[in-house]
Amino acid sequence: MCGIVGYIGFRDAYPVLIKGLHRLEYRGYDSAGCALVSRTSELNVYKAKGKVSDLERATQGKDITGSLGIAHTRWATHGAPSEVNAHPHISKSGNITLVHNGIIENYATLRVQLEKRGFVFKSQTDTEVLVQLIEFQKELRHCDLAEAVRRSLHLVIGAYAIAVIDKENPTQLVAARKASPLAIGIGEDYKEFFLASDASPIAEYTNQIVYLNDDEVAVVERGKNLHVMNLYGEDKEAEVKEVDVDLSMLDKGGFPHFMLKEIFDQPNVLRDCMRGRIINNVYSSESGQAHEPTLDVVLSAVKDHRRELLRARRIVIVSCGTSWHAGLIGKQLIEHFCQIPTEVAYASEFRYADPVVEQDDVVIAISQSGETADTLAAIQLAKEKGAFVYGIVNAVGSSIARNTDTGTYIHVGPEIGVASTKAFTGQVTVLTLFALALGMYKGTVDQQEYQDVLEELTNIPNKIQEVLKQNDKIQELSKKYTNSSNFLYLGRGFNYPVALEGALKLKEISYIHAEGYPAAEMKHGPIALIDKDMPVVFLTNHHRRYQKVISNLQEVISRHGQILAIIHEGDDQVKQMVETYIEVPQTLSCLAPLISVIPLQLLSYHIAVARGLNVDQPRNLAKSVTVE
Ligand code: M6R
Repeated sequence: MCGIVGYIGFRDAYPVLIKGLHRLEYRGYDSAGCALVSRTSELNVYKAKGKVSDLERATQGKDITGSLGIAHTRWATHGAPSEVNAHPHISKSGNITLVHNGIIENYATLRVQLEKRGFVFKSQTDTEVLVQLIEFQKELRHCDLAEAVRRSLHLVIGAYAIAVIDKENPTQLVAARKASPLAIGIGEDYKEFFLASDASPIAEYTNQIVYLNDDEVAVVERGKNLHVMNLYGEDKEAEVKEVDVDLSMLDKGGFPHFMLKEIFDQPNVLRDCMRGRIINNVYSSESGQAHEPTLDVVLSAVKDHRRELLRARRIVIVSCGTSWHAGLIGKQLIEHFCQIPTEVAYASEFRYADPVVEQDDVVIAISQSGETADTLAAIQLAKEKGAFVYGIVNAVGSSIARNTDTGTYIHVGPEIGVASTKAFTGQVTVLTLFALALGMYKGTVDQQEYQDVLEELTNIPNKIQEVLKQNDKIQELSKKYTNSSNFLYLGRGFNYPVALEGALKLKEISYIHAEGYPAAEMKHGPIALIDKDMPVVFLTNHHRRYQKVISNLQEVISRHGQILAIIHEGDDQVKQMVETYIEVPQTLSCLAPLISVIPLQLLSYHIAVARGLNVDQPRNLAKSVTVE
C-alpha cells in the first residue's frame, strides 16, 4: 500500500508533491513525509505522524524550496505509525533518501549484515534497510546512485516501488519497481518528470505516462531523456502510453465524502461502462435487410478470444474483498448463461493452495485497483500452470490489466473512497455482459432471455437513480442503528453476495460487527443470535423462489429480530410483515444485485457518518492492498 510521489524539473517540487500525496492518500494515511533538495543544495526532510495535512502543518515556516523531491504517504507494515517510521528514510551519511511502497521480506537479515558494518538504524521499518544498503553499495563500488540501486535490488527479496535521490547529484532521480506500481509522467520536451504510485497525481501535468515493469530501474535526469534498464543494466524500451484521467473524478464534486459521491456516480458511470458494449442491431447480418431492432453485446476481448474461452471446461474467478463478492455473482451468471462450471477463490488462498489448474481452464481476475498483490500473484500462478487469464479491472494501465492475457475495463472512473461502491456495480455489469456474450457464442443463452436481460440492463442506471432519491429516508432510518454493535445481512441466490457486500461495507467504515449469510442457512446455527436487539437486513427482492425467502423472513420475525427489509416495489406481502423496509424498483432476478446493493451502501455510509467516523479513510485500511 503506501503512496509515493516524486518530481524533478523546473518548478517548485513541494506543491506537486503535496497535491500528489493528497491524491494518493487513499493508499495509506498513518504518516507522511517529503524530502527536497533545496535551492542551496541542502537536503530537507520533513515528516509527520497522521495525514498529509499534518505534514503540511509540520512544514510551515520551513525551507520548502527546490525542484527535486520525493514524498510518501504511509500504511504501516513494519513499525507502528510514527514520525521516525515515516518515509523518506535517510542513509547514514545523510546524502541519500528514499521512499518505498512494498515490503522488503529479507530486511532482518540485511539489517544484521549492515549493522555489523557500522550502520545504525533509527526506525523499525524494512525500508530503512534499503536506503542504507544503497549507500553501502555506492561506497563499496564507487559507483553512481543508479548502479548502487541496481546492485542493491539484486540482494533484496520482496516487493517495491521506490524513488531515491542523492544530495550529491541533484540532477537525478532514480526509481525502480517490483510487484508494486510505479508510473512516470513525462512533461513537455522532457523538461520535467513526475513519479507516482498511480496516474492521478500526474494527470494534470501530462498524459504521457510510462508504467515501469517488474525489475526495471528508471533514471530520470533533469532536461534529459528517461533511461530505463533492467537489474543487469541492460537498456529497456520505455513504452509511453497516453493516459487520460478525468480530473473532475478526483475531487468530491460538492459531496461531503468521496464515498457518497461515488455512490451517486453510479447511474452515470454504469452508462459509461455499457457505452458501446450494448448495441442496437437493425440489420440482419445474413440478408443485410433492416429488421426489428434487437440488442447485442459487443465485448471485443470475448470476441477476439472466444476460441480460448469456449475451450474452457472450468472457469476460476480470483479476487479479494468486494471484487470477490462480485465474483460470486459472476459465478451464478456464467453458470446460468454459459453452462460452464465456475469456482470463486480468494486470491490470497488460491496463490498458496496448490490449486489444480489445467491448460484449458480460464481464470478471471477481478480488481478495482488492478494492483492487489494477492490477485497479481494468483494470476502469475494461473499463467504458470497454463491457464488463459481474463482481467476485469477498473484502473487503466494497472499491473493486473497488463499482466492478464486479455480483459475488459469496467470504466467507472477513479474510485477514491476506501469502501468500494461503484466498482462493485461496474464489475457486476461487466460480468453480466461477459456471461451473455460468451453464452451467445456457446449457444447456451435463450434468445429471448438475452434480449430481456440486455434491455433491462440499459434501464438499470435509471432505476439506481430512483433508489438514490431515497437517500434522505435512508439517512433518517440509519439513526436507529447508530449504537448497534452487531448486524446480520441475509439474502439468497443473486442477493446472497449482496448480503456479504452489505456486511463488509458496514464493518469497514462503521466498525460494527456484521455478517452476511445465505438466508436459508440461518436455521443451521446463526438463528441462535436473533433477538430483539439484533438488526437483520433482509433482502427479499427479486428472488426466483420468492416464497422460500418469505419463509426465511418469517423465521426471523418469529424470533423478534429487528428487521430492515429491502423489498421490490409493490411487495405488499412483506410490507404487512415488517415495520421497516426500503422499496427498490422491480428488475430481473439476475440483475437484482445492481439495485439491492445501493440502499446497503447508503445505509452503511449514514451509520458511519452518524458515528462520527472518517468514512473515506477508515482505520487500518488502505484502498490498494499492494502487500500480501
Ligand atoms: O482493488 P481490488 O478490487 O483488487 O481490491 C480488493 C479489496 O481490497 C477491496 O475490494 C476491499 O475489500 C474494499 N475496501 C472493499 O470495500
